[in-house]
Amino acid sequence: MAAPAQTLLLFGATGDLSRRMLLPSLFGLDADGLLPPDLKIYGTARSDMDDAAFRETAATALEPILKDRNLSQEVLDRFLARVHYVAADASRPETLAALGKAVGSRADAGLAIFLSTAPSLFESTIAGLEAAGLAGEQTRLALEKPLGHDLASSREINDAVARVFPEARTFRIDHYLGKETVQNLLALRFGNILFEPLWNASAIEHVQITVGETVGLEGRTSYFDGMGSLRDMVQNHMLQLLALVAMEAPAQFTATAVRDEKVKVLRSLRKLDPKESVIGQYAAGAVAGQPVPAYAAELEKASDTETFVALKAHVDNWRWQGVPFYLRTGKRLPRRTSEIVIQFRPVPHSMFAGRGAALQPNRLLISIQPEENISFTIMAKQPGLDRDGIRLREVPLDIRMANAFADVRRRIAYERLLLDLIEGDPTLFVRRDEVEAQWEWIDAIRAGWAENGMTPKQYPAGTWGPAAAIALTERDGVTWHE
Ligand code: BG6
Repeated sequence: MAAPAQTLLLFGATGDLSRRMLLPSLFGLDADGLLPPDLKIYGTARSDMDDAAFRETAATALEPILKDRNLSQEVLDRFLARVHYVAADASRPETLAALGKAVGSRADAGLAIFLSTAPSLFESTIAGLEAAGLAGEQTRLALEKPLGHDLASSREINDAVARVFPEARTFRIDHYLGKETVQNLLALRFGNILFEPLWNASAIEHVQITVGETVGLEGRTSYFDGMGSLRDMVQNHMLQLLALVAMEAPAQFTATAVRDEKVKVLRSLRKLDPKESVIGQYAAGAVAGQPVPAYAAELEKASDTETFVALKAHVDNWRWQGVPFYLRTGKRLPRRTSEIVIQFRPVPHSMFAGRGAALQPNRLLISIQPEENISFTIMAKQPGLDRDGIRLREVPLDIRMANAFADVRRRIAYERLLLDLIEGDPTLFVRRDEVEAQWEWIDAIRAGWAENGMTPKQYPAGTWGPAAAIALTERDGVTWHE
């Protein structure tokens, strides 16, 4: 692994992601003594302010953590002392000269740069970094999504980055990969003998991946309306989850081995038949008992953007032949939940049938959020003397991560990702070939929708999408896990 960076540059430092995730994550790492002792953090954005004003902005963002974790003012002050601010306009490369001057020769001792700005600014930012002497061999560049809005635009971004930063120093963020339970999927699959022999079409009937959100637009109107759920959530987070579920066992836990296996899955996705997809847009309704307006009302105009999507995907390889992967995600659904369901097949023959007992096939439920649980349902005999037939019942084998690891603090996904960036480990970042394989599949879906004149069906906010989403699985005799 490369030497840890001594300097971190945060572009978009005054933005929402920085205040909600990046600064809190860095502070969390610092409070635990995990940042390189000499690490300096430079925030940069267009607003004109000095170090003191930026530290004040940071302190406000960090206040809730200070309280939650009962940390002292001294810990906060120590963190703030690392933080500096240099104003730069990413659309005008020459303005980055000030950053180059501020960082100076520290850049040679390892520089990590995090771009959480609009992708339209990536190219000029990179030009500015190069001109300011900040794009040398010791620099790693992290890019926050969206990395384009289709394959062509994503390639453009990747080409612009690649002109200056080789792939090994390009860190594409998918924050789902920073989530502990997502990484736990690897531990579950490849750290246990139990599942892997059954992890294929002969024992698994189907897979469901649901990412439900209760929030609506959250003020991100123009971004979201230009993207829709397919591109906002499926293209990245959900396909990464699918790849982790479906990939072959990597030989090592290294960036190359893990990403090689993921990309093979992404390239094996069968072109989707539009009939195997459902799109929806929320109408007025209620979430958690509170009335909420329709998408179009939040947007203040009519729109054809989907806020819900359900798909039946297929991975066309030997392991997964005939196993549907049902994916669904949406805004204004009844619950915030991210989960993966592995539905196993029934036993080939039930010796209990003649004694009146019905069997339910085993099911593995991996809950990613809000709770981190793994639950495996198995059949068990109901206690009794069985005079009028044997009774078997499903019982869950539950692993509640919060209990199993009660003494370990749950970290924000970005804590892991920022530390990996600073230390130079790209395993949990997305490689160019993965992003492009994801876009290729997504572009074909959108083309199919356009050819078939598909537009989103309305669903009342607070429900699990349009009725057609239920029909998508029911016609295969499958019910969405709720
Ligand atoms: C982001 C999407 O990538 O992920 C948002 O742009 C979405 O629309 C968010 O709300 C969900 O992330 P999480 O971690 O809350 O599940």
